Amino acid sequence: MSASKLSSKKCVGGASLALPARRTARAGRPGAVGVKAAAAGGYVPDMNRRNVMNLLLVGAAGLPAATMAGAFAWFFYPASSGGGGGGLTAKDALGNDVTSKGWLATHQPGDHSLTQGLKGDPTYLVVTTENKIENYGINAVCTHLGCVVPWNVPEQKFKCPCHGSQYNAQGRVVRGPAPLSLALAHAEIDADDKVVFTPWTETDFRTGLDPWWK
Ligand code: FES
Repeated sequence: MSASKLSSKKCVGGASLALPARRTARAGRPGAVGVKAAAAGGYVPDMNRRNVMNLLLVGAAGLPAATMAGAFAWFFYPASSGGGGGGLTAKDALGNDVTSKGWLATHQPGDHSLTQGLKGDPTYLVVTTENKIENYGINAVCTHLGCVVPWNVPEQKFKCPCHGSQYNAQGRVVRGPAPLSLALAHAEIDADDKVVFTPWTETDFRTGLDPWWK
């Protein structure tokens, strides 16, 4: 038996008792790990490298967080009412672009029919008595509580089915509880014969007032 093995045993009453090997460093003691790692050839990063690693970690976590925050902000940003936004080609009930020629072939003078307008709002196109498309569209969203207002052919006015508000053929309010006239949008024919809505930001010709939907 070697001398080292003999030193790890203790003689008790003539019998040998095996003892655990003594630790070289106590657990939890400052420097113990570093000393052991260094003694074993382990890698301990210096302060500059740790700072660089921390920055990379913050960047990797921050980029997705900033992206998510931007997406949430975009989602919850409130859309303006009425005729805000840029120009948009009117769409028919099937989602097709409305052309002047196609529309006038199927809609008579005096007709008020719905299309999809700015921001997806239901918007009436009006056919004039000269069989042309009127140069403004009428937003069909009631200014009381937002019901879509149908055109009543026999009475030649818009009558809201929800609480009875009425608007004349140009969308001007003539009976409450709706407090305001229907919003307007410009309706123009572009070079491809498509009907294009653009925001109406000028004076409301029906009331002589600034547009409330601007
Ligand atoms: S929503 Fe049209 S009158 Fe109330």
